[in-house]
Amino acid sequence: MATIAIVYHSGYGHTAKVAEHVRSGLEAAGAQAKLYTVDAFVDAETGPWDELAAADGIIFGSPTYMGSTSAAMAKFLELTSKAWFTDGWKDKIAAGFTTSGSLAGDKNETLQRFATLASQHAMIWVNFGAKPGYSMSNSDFATVLNRAGHFLGLATQSLNDLPPEQAPDAADLQTAEVFGQRVAEATKRWVRGAA
Ligand SMILES: Cc1cc2nc3c(=O)[nH]c(=O)nc-3n(C[C@H](O)[C@H](O)[C@H](O)COP(=O)(O)O)c2cc1C
Repeated sequence: MATIAIVYHSGYGHTAKVAEHVRSGLEAAGAQAKLYTVDAFVDAETGPWDELAAADGIIFGSPTYMGSTSAAMAKFLELTSKAWFTDGWKDKIAAGFTTSGSLAGDKNETLQRFATLASQHAMIWVNFGAKPGYSMSNSDFATVLNRAGHFLGLATQSLNDLPPEQAPDAADLQTAEVFGQRVAEATKRWVRGAA
């Protein structure tokens, strides 16, 4: 069974909620998924690094803070340099997700940060894989998938004044599950092809 780690940071619980729904999508598509917060990785030695090394894929998740990843996530990304030295993550599947208060919110910068990190590790980046759901004839933001309209990864919106119980909304959480399914399918295909 394809194994996929989700490593995320969430200051106020919204990204954590998205991570749960990405996991649901992964599992619905038959992958084994495990969540890790960046806090588990204390330094380059201490933390479940061996579990990341053993995973077939790693999905990175962070809120967008001041137009990029949170500082806690940035610290984790720096710590991955130890795996970089040994090509430890080479040819693993990689993907990324973020949430922010604004519909746009400069989320692309966060996703690009993850894609660059994955490329430095020679990982295989999986994008969102579907067009924004709205069109001229369907502009109902309450129901469409990928309403933030990002392609590089999963992008959701959490209105700043709403708690994680209410944001992101159901359409964005469904978008997270669709994204999880895509990453699971890509990982399964990649693992099968390598056998
Ligand atoms: C320090 C800080 C910086 C933020 N910067 C942005 C930003 O650049 N763009 C945006 O749309 N929202 C921004 N927000 C809003 C958060 O992205 C949003 O509240 C998100 O849901 C927080 O996720 P979390 O609950 O997982 O921490 C910021 C929030 C904080 C606390």
